[in-house]
Amino acid sequence: MVSETQKSKLALFGGEKAVQLPEEDMFTWPIVTREHEEAVLEVIRNRTMSGTDITKKFEQEYAKKLGVKYAIGFNNGTSAIQTALYGMGVGIGDEVISPSLTYWATCLQVFSLGATVRFADVCSDTLCIDPDDIERRITQKTKAIVVVHYLAMPADMGRIMAISDKHGIPVFEDISHAHGARYKGKEVGTFGLASAASLMSAKSFAIGEAGMMFTNNQKVYERAVLFGHYERHNDIKSTELQEFSGLPHGGYKYRMHQASSAFGLVQLKLYDRQIAEIDKAMNYYCDLLKDVPALYPIRPEPNSGTTKGGWYIPAAKYRSEELGGLSLKRFTDALCAEGSLCFPGVNKPLHMHPVFTSADIYGHGVPTRVANMSEKDRSVFKPESLPVTESINNEVLMTPWFKHYKPEYIEQHVNAVKKVVENFHELLPGDTKEEIKGELSGAKVRKAKL
Ligand SMILES: Cc1ncc(COP(=O)(O)O)c(C=O)c1O
Repeated sequence: MVSETQKSKLALFGGEKAVQLPEEDMFTWPIVTREHEEAVLEVIRNRTMSGTDITKKFEQEYAKKLGVKYAIGFNNGTSAIQTALYGMGVGIGDEVISPSLTYWATCLQVFSLGATVRFADVCSDTLCIDPDDIERRITQKTKAIVVVHYLAMPADMGRIMAISDKHGIPVFEDISHAHGARYKGKEVGTFGLASAASLMSAKSFAIGEAGMMFTNNQKVYERAVLFGHYERHNDIKSTELQEFSGLPHGGYKYRMHQASSAFGLVQLKLYDRQIAEIDKAMNYYCDLLKDVPALYPIRPEPNSGTTKGGWYIPAAKYRSEELGGLSLKRFTDALCAEGSLCFPGVNKPLHMHPVFTSADIYGHGVPTRVANMSEKDRSVFKPESLPVTESINNEVLMTPWFKHYKPEYIEQHVNAVKKVVENFHELLPGDTKEEIKGELSGAKVRKAKL
């Protein structure tokens, strides 16, 4: 028998853990069924790993589901994004505006297109790009506004599309975090001139190493095919492009492995049902935390007009002032000790990384970021100051990402939060106030089984 004192004592100090039930399949992702296995095995048995027939079927089904005209499968999200931006015409001397609070593959590829990036700040409530800051960063060279629906929370597409229309600058959507999420009823990935997603195995729509780009625009589609899908140049109808078809213009080979396509075809059938259960589980967790201080899950608020269908690494805001200044690191350490794995911080801001401040990647003799600007712009360029992005890592944590609706299990995780909050005074003395720099990565998330 465990005594009541042992139960209420923080696990960090030797008490009993709040989470006692076995984890079982609560965090296993993606869910691999017999149907997935058979589909992948068939590709291997038929030796069609390198073809395009299954991929094309997957593209058609995905495009139909999203309600767009064209979808192209890729070997990963990184190449899908690079190609989509090429398709939109991003090239030598151009600029794209991107959030800095994101994974590097949202925008780093523009260097390879001879373009550069200007970073904009994010909104502290959604963690997505701030429309006001987009407008401040627009120059004569801006070729695209890059939007990331960060951690499955849709960006403010109403205001962003209005800015896009006002300035005549197209939007690109990186939907790697937000498959299925909706803004005012419309699915993300359908607002911009093009969009693209990572479908790697840690994502919400997870099929393995793979990516997909989407567009309704024939020219964008054809340029994208031309860039790294040489074996599909028959799809190119524009005469000005046909002349150069046959070889990939990017010098890249980007097609999707058909084991991923086959897995994806099965996943397309199961995803809505799976995400509905995740939605139920996560909403239950968030609802139970409603009256608990300090931890505020990031979820669409009822009158914000957004519907978050695509849960991905759910996050919460942490207000240390409500717990006597207890640091985020100490708070998450205590939660992890209770058996509720949480992860402090989000991505490390890109604009402060040496790749974006000082690296001369292609031998221009100056940092690549400024090498791709005009001489005049180079001399006046100053790295951005992004106050929200720079401070956000000490204010956000990743909460558990439940894959099943098992109320009893979820309640234990809520109890873990309540226990830490109730006993926060005991955590203050040993708090070293360690700063969180941000190091979210797929590998870390998988390890932490969030
Ligand atoms: C926001 C975002 N964009 C792009 C990518 C790149 O996708 P991939 O890893 O499939 O190349 C990722 C992550 O993997 C991501 O999180």
